[in-house]
Amino acid sequence: MTEPNGTRLEGLLRRHIARKGGIGIAEYMTHCLAHPEYGYYTTQQPLGEDGDFITAPEASQIFGELLGIWAIACWRHMGSPARINLMELGPGRGLLMSDLLRAAAVQPDFLAALRVHLVEISPILRAEQRRRLGDAPAPVHWHATLPEDGAAAATPPGDAMLDDAPLLIIANEFFDALPVQHYEHTEQGWRERMIVIDKDGGFALRPVGNAPAAEKLPAWARNLPVGSIIELSPAREMTARHLARLLRSRGGALLAIDYGHTTPAPGETLQALHRHRQVSIFHRPGETDLTAHVDFAALAEAFRAEGLNTPPPLQQGAFLLGLGLRERLDALLRNADEQQAERLLRGAERIAGVEQMGSLFKVLCAHHPHMPPPPPFAP
Ligand SMILES: C[S@@+](CC[C@H](N)C(=O)[O-])C[C@H]1O[C@@H](n2cnc3c(N)ncnc32)[C@H](O)[C@@H]1O
Repeated sequence: MTEPNGTRLEGLLRRHIARKGGIGIAEYMTHCLAHPEYGYYTTQQPLGEDGDFITAPEASQIFGELLGIWAIACWRHMGSPARINLMELGPGRGLLMSDLLRAAAVQPDFLAALRVHLVEISPILRAEQRRRLGDAPAPVHWHATLPEDGAAAATPPGDAMLDDAPLLIIANEFFDALPVQHYEHTEQGWRERMIVIDKDGGFALRPVGNAPAAEKLPAWARNLPVGSIIELSPAREMTARHLARLLRSRGGALLAIDYGHTTPAPGETLQALHRHRQVSIFHRPGETDLTAHVDFAALAEAFRAEGLNTPPPLQQGAFLLGLGLRERLDALLRNADEQQAERLLRGAERIAGVEQMGSLFKVLCAHHPHMPPPPPFAP
């Protein structure tokens, strides 16, 4: 049943919250983004001018092309193995991968060794990726959830197996979509912020949940004054540890690229976007994108806890310039007409300019300890 002026999911959530008395933000995000029938990623096409937001591969082909250069450099660092898996988490419309594969044509041995794995929750985006990558120069496999290590029995029906060849993983704007929790420091101590139904019947946030387990409260938050709010993401840390175990047993490296901060700090960053406009997190549940800034220090700690090395993260602009953004842009401009040149310059500025994605977005690399840090993280 659709609620008056509301979405179907809003009706379901209202009844669910009324029954339970309140739910945490992480549970709310999970329903809103991934509900199997009414979730945002299950039902919407979120990307591009017609969607809710534009990502770096949507803004410039150079982004994916430089990641192709990065992947080839990692493969060489590992001794050019005869087989390599490249996994992308949350590949959107498949633009990053198609640009990456085009750039990788400069190294035919790499392409011959390559198998691509796309981990994508959205059936709509999976269909678009299949169309875009239909004639990819390497085999492409899809996974609805993160592949497990080893056991064929753990592979959901329809998903491909991940073999034990060395692995490269790229996650662009993936971790920001994983659920976060809020804790508020009240006079009674730290309490989880819960979503409840207020007396007017709307959704509201209240610090009425449980206190976090003592070991879950990060050291940097221990002396914060009453009134402070902190954002934690056990879901991101669990995902990071899972990926780290895949890399630890196979060898390889990972890039997590997202907007976020490298030094943890109090405050909330959870935000909702609808048609390129910032709205309340309660606006049209299931039709609105919900994301939160990534705490790169917590993410790096999770990778290190499973035995990976993590060089200091770079700002996206420095990362792209280090991989040769200027040289690639110059090469493309040499063959561009006026309109194409204008689009290329605008795209490059968007992905690397300090006022745009260049400084807000960070790039974290995690790599197997037997491999030197790949460029541009190498000293
Ligand atoms: C913000 S979009 C980024 C898309 C793409 N990486 C880009 O840069 O254009 C988030 C992507 O992650 C996918 N996604 C979100 N949550 C996911 C999950 N739990 N498992 C797998 N994919 C997920 C979405 O469907 C989408 O493809």
